Amino acid sequence: MSELALKAEKLDAADELAAKRAEFVLDDVVYLDGNSLGALPVAVPGRVEDVVRRQWGELRIRSWTEGDWWTAPERIGDRIAPLVGAAAGQIVVGDSTSVNVFKALVAAVRLARSAGPERDEIVVDATTFPTDGYIAGSAARMTGCTLRPVTPSEVPGALGDRTAAVLLNHVDYRTGRLHDLPSLTAAVHAAGAVVVWDLCHSAGALPVGLDEHGVDLAVGCTYKYLNGGPGSPAFLYVRADLQDRFDSPLPGWNSHVEPFGMRSAYEPAAGAVRGRVGTPDILSMLALEAALEVWDGVAVDAVRAKSLALTDFFLECVETYVPDGRVECVTPRAHGERGSQIALRCSPTLGSARAGGPPTAGEVMRRLIERGVVGDFRHPDVLRFGFTPLYVGFADVERAARVLAEVLA
Ligand SMILES: Cc1ncc(COP(=O)(O)O)c(C=O)c1O
Repeated sequence: MSELALKAEKLDAADELAAKRAEFVLDDVVYLDGNSLGALPVAVPGRVEDVVRRQWGELRIRSWTEGDWWTAPERIGDRIAPLVGAAAGQIVVGDSTSVNVFKALVAAVRLARSAGPERDEIVVDATTFPTDGYIAGSAARMTGCTLRPVTPSEVPGALGDRTAAVLLNHVDYRTGRLHDLPSLTAAVHAAGAVVVWDLCHSAGALPVGLDEHGVDLAVGCTYKYLNGGPGSPAFLYVRADLQDRFDSPLPGWNSHVEPFGMRSAYEPAAGAVRGRVGTPDILSMLALEAALEVWDGVAVDAVRAKSLALTDFFLECVETYVPDGRVECVTPRAHGERGSQIALRCSPTLGSARAGGPPTAGEVMRRLIERGVVGDFRHPDVLRFGFTPLYVGFADVERAARVLAEVLA
């Protein structure tokens, strides 16, 4: 056994989260794509079966009240809250992340203008996941703002008394870079603007501290590190003291103070419920609720500690096994700047695609998947490996790096 395989064995033996793996449906594949679609928790199929057969099939309409379907968005929001450092009553679950980005960003501009009506700029992370950029552009047109795309490091310098809202990613989806949420939030506030954080790549992977850092609004998906399943509903956080001024651009009947009053005039409900729009997607939502049970007894700090240990160990294995110059790590080495993924550039300049030459990044990932190591490929030349501490172990990490070296050889 190699030195690194022995080290992996020791690390696995000392891993306090190791038992959690049994709560997921997994096989002998090394699954490093939980930053795209989390694995299936064992509790989910049975719950979905119950929701479909008994709650829908037998109780039918009664489940909206007797089965607590109606309050599921807030109830499940409260289940997510401690995972992102929020007190109860500030998160609702529903819709996609994209839709929640839209709600939050337009509401952020409206909030900022209630303090300073002349504010007319939306600052957005220029390197953002595309949907956030598209929606920010549309939100800017709708609110009469100018869109200002800048890199996260340029954000403090871009802020001023014209800034209304700022949309940022906690962890960059491509590079895995963790941005400084506390200091960027403070900078946005010092400029008198409102911040919206996209937590897709941090919720369930590391401590976020929404309340502690005074974040205004936040959104995130639940199908990555929260393992909610394909297309599971997203979440929206509205800080408690902003809720009565949260003016949603999608005021649906579900956020009405009296939804069954069927009134023609809109009057928003109090609290996080204001973030709701229409009928919740109950099947996906209750699958998510079952998936969140894996978090019982788990501290996010322990998840973070293991995540950093896994990514450190992966880098050590890649450096040992992969010949020099074949890949370049684009994820920061500093723990304070690293999310729960490692992104390796594997570009034609590091190995050409010509016949007989080294394979391109897309081809490398295809061969890795064929050999039971599942990560993903992001255009144009990035191999992404996501590390979900609840079910990835150190032996998986050693095997992934070893197979990567074989594929690149
Ligand atoms: C950072 C980020 N924001 C937004 C999205 C899009 O989310 P949705 O498809 O739920 O709208 C993703 C999807 O992967 C993402 O990574």
